[in-house]
Formats: sequence, C-alpha cells, structure tokens
Amino acid sequence: MTKSYIWPVANRVSHVLLMVFFTLSYILADFDRYLSLHVAFGLALGVVFLFRIVWGFIGPKHSKFKDFNFNLYDLKNYLFSIFVKTKEYAGHNPASSYAIVAMIVVAFLTIVSGLFAYGIEENRGVLSFLHQSFFRDMEVFEDIHEFFANLFLAIIVLHVAGSLVDRFIKKSDAIDSMISGYKVLSSKVDIKVNLAQKLFGIIWIVVSLFSLYYLIFTKGNIFIASSYVKQDYTVLHKDFSEECGSCHITYPPYLLSKNSWISMMKNLENHFDDDASLDEVTNQSILSFLMHNSAENSTHKSALKILKSLKDNNSTIAITKTPYWRKKHDEIEKSVFASNEVKSRANCKACHENIENGLLEYDLINIPDIKG
Ligand code: HEC
Ligand code: HEC
Repeated sequence: MTKSYIWPVANRVSHVLLMVFFTLSYILADFDRYLSLHVAFGLALGVVFLFRIVWGFIGPKHSKFKDFNFNLYDLKNYLFSIFVKTKEYAGHNPASSYAIVAMIVVAFLTIVSGLFAYGIEENRGVLSFLHQSFFRDMEVFEDIHEFFANLFLAIIVLHVAGSLVDRFIKKSDAIDSMISGYKVLSSKVDIKVNLAQKLFGIIWIVVSLFSLYYLIFTKGNIFIASSYVKQDYTVLHKDFSEECGSCHITYPPYLLSKNSWISMMKNLENHFDDDASLDEVTNQSILSFLMHNSAENSTHKSALKILKSLKDNNSTIAITKTPYWRKKHDEIEKSVFASNEVKSRANCKACHENIENGLLEYDLINIPDIKG
C-alpha cells in the first residue's frame, strides 16, 4: 500500500466553502431579519458550484466528470456492502459521483427558485421586475424554493451518512483525503496539477470569497437591492402627512384594509382616547387617499399578510392588533416596547428605519439598545 496525491487544494478548499455556505444559508433562512445574508450565502454557493462545473471539464484526473464512476453495478455493490470492503476507488466512489452531480443540479434549481421567490415576494434582486405581475402567487414560489432546498439537504445528509459509514465502518480514508489530499492505495497514482489548473484553482477560491464579500457588504448591489422606492407622503397627500403625522408617525396606508380605514375615519373623535377629528372635506380627502393606498391595493408582502390574517374581522383599526403584526413581534420583550427609546408598540420608527416613507424592509430593522 502506498500514499497517492488525489485531491488538489482547490477541491479541498471549495469543499469547505460549500459546507460553510450551505450550512449558514440554510440556518439563516429561518430568520427573516437576516434574509439578505441568507441570499448572499446562497448565491456565493452558486458561484463555488459554477467553478466546480468548469473544473469537471478542465481539472486534473479524478476531478473531471468523465473520471466519475457512474457504473450502476458498482453503485449497487457499493451500497449493499456496508460491512465489507469494496473495490478500491482512487477518485470518487459511485455513491459520491452520483451525489455530487445531484447536488450540482439541485443547487442550481434551489438558487434559481430562490431568485424567483426573492424577486416576487420581496421585490428584491435581479428578478424583482416580476414582483408586480406575480406577487399574488408569492407563496407558491417560496414553497418551490423550500422544496428544492430540502431536497438539497436530503442529498447532503445521505452523502454525509455514506461518508461516515465509509470512514468508521469500512475504515476507508475518503474523508481524510478531503482534508489531506492523499489516499492510501494499492499502487501509486499521483495526480498532476499543471500551472493553468493551479491558476484556475486560485481564481476559483478568490472569486468565491470575493462574491460573498461583495454580496454582503456592497449596499444596493443588484442581487440584493430592493426595488421599493421611498414614498414622500408630504408630497403625495399633504393633509394626510400633516394631520395624521402630528401625534404619531405617518403609518403607511397599505398596513390596513379599506374597512379599517373607513371605521377609523368615521370615528376620529374617539381615536385611541384622543380627539383627532377633522372637517368633513379633509376627512373625505384623506379617506380616499387611504382607500386608494390600502392593503387591498398594495403589492407589499406585509399588506397581503395583514389582509390574510384579518380574515372576516377586517375592521380592526390598530395595525398592532392585527394577528400578523402580533405574530411578527411576539418575540420582542414587553420591556423593549415600554423603554424610553421605544415608548410604544405604535412607535414603529424606533425600530423600522424609513417606515414613514412607506418602506418596510428587513435590513432596515434595528431594535434600539435599551439602557437599564
Ligand atoms: C390628536 C392626536 C392624533 C391624531 C391627530 C391622529 N392620531 Fe392616530 N393615534 C393617536 C394615538 C394616541 C394612538 C394610539 C398610539 C399608541 O397606541 O401608542 C393612535 C393610533 C393610531 C393608529 C394605530 C397604531 C397601532 O397601534 O397600530 C393608526 C393606524 C392611526 N392612529 C392612524 C391615524 C390617522 C390615519 C390619522 C389621521 C386621520 C391619525 N391617526 C391622527 C393619536 C392621534
Ligand atoms: C421594538 C422594535 C419594533 C417596533 C416598535 C415595531 N417593530 Fe415591526 N418588527 C420588528 C422586528 C425585530 C421585526 C422582524 C421580526 C422577524 O424577524 O420576523 C419586525 C417585523 C415587522 C413586520 C414584518 C416584516 C414584513 O416585511 O412583513 C412588519 C409588517 C412590521 N414589523 C410592522 C411594524 C409596524 C407597522 C410597527 C408599528 C405599528 C412596528 N412594526 C413596530 C421590530 C419592531
């Protein structure tokens, strides 16, 4: 038995990048507030895989797709022989060969469906132009993306399980070789990496890391950027901005339904224990502005979610009483809302930058530091 060099540095480093990028992207998907980070890690994963595909044609022996083992008979033998040592594989064993190709295909489907979901649901990224036409179906796109992401996870779990069986039951050194680059084989079969391949390997790693850096730190880059624009209510409707912004922030009209605005404007004398009454003409003018821009007429995700959560009871006049608002804020401590920095649940702008310009974006959320 003798040691042979099988996996070049580029394979091993990119393998680590894939593990880290996938794990972080998958975990971050559970935290809406970190959605742009989730997207950044997901797209960077795509960059690593794009280079891997090219590597599959120009890389050294064993890295090339044509050196993968897709023989079904070998695959069957490999899978059904957990406790016996199978044929020696200098490169990828049949199970890994299939897993790698499946991962590349499913990663691609996950990323593309993710771009659709991001564009349509959040009005962000390169496909945000689809938002207007498809926003009603946003959940379908999210479901498709989730399906592929979970399929991707399932393949990874099988691949990891197989590698562990390989390492601890079959006592193979496949996992170790992904770290050291070397395998112990019956004959010496070192690979040769030429200068062009070395250069490609360096570019592969540098570009992958740089793309992650770019996606996270370049504000307004087209892959993450939002297509919502700031609304200036002082210009759009002066009375609304002045009258309804005198005691509290100007709430974006799309956060309540038509019925809610009608109920509210009918009863301004008794407005949350305050008298906010207006003359008839101003009242009608503001009401018509509110109706025109109500949740029913908005493409904003939160508008749709609020409407859906209100169901029949859509005359609730406090945004903070809607089930969707409650659900989204139920993890925030009461003491935060009561603090000097925030004062009231209704003081949205303490945490939502630019909400008075109609923007509600995850990366504009900052919960203030609460002092003692
Ligand atoms: C005289 C002061 C005053 C004026 C003028 C006023 N409001 Fe209010 N509004 C309040 C108070 C007080 C609350 C309760 C805030 C809280 O819960 O901290 C409130 C709450 C609200 C809420 C619910 C916030 C939540 O908890 O979700 C909305 C929506 C609202 N106002 C809209 C309007 C609109 C639209 C106008 C203009 C027609 C208006 N307000 C004018 C005093 C005022
Ligand atoms: C103490 C801070 C705080 C205050 C005050 C606050 N929010 Fe939020 N809000 C958050 C946080 C944090 C999230 C993100 C929750 C999550 O991770 O899903 C959030 C999420 C949301 C969302 C869901 C995100 C989306 O795009 O659909 C909406 C809508 C929202 N807030 C509206 C409001 C409105 C309207 C007000 C005022 C009536 C308000 N919030 C007041 C902290 C706050």
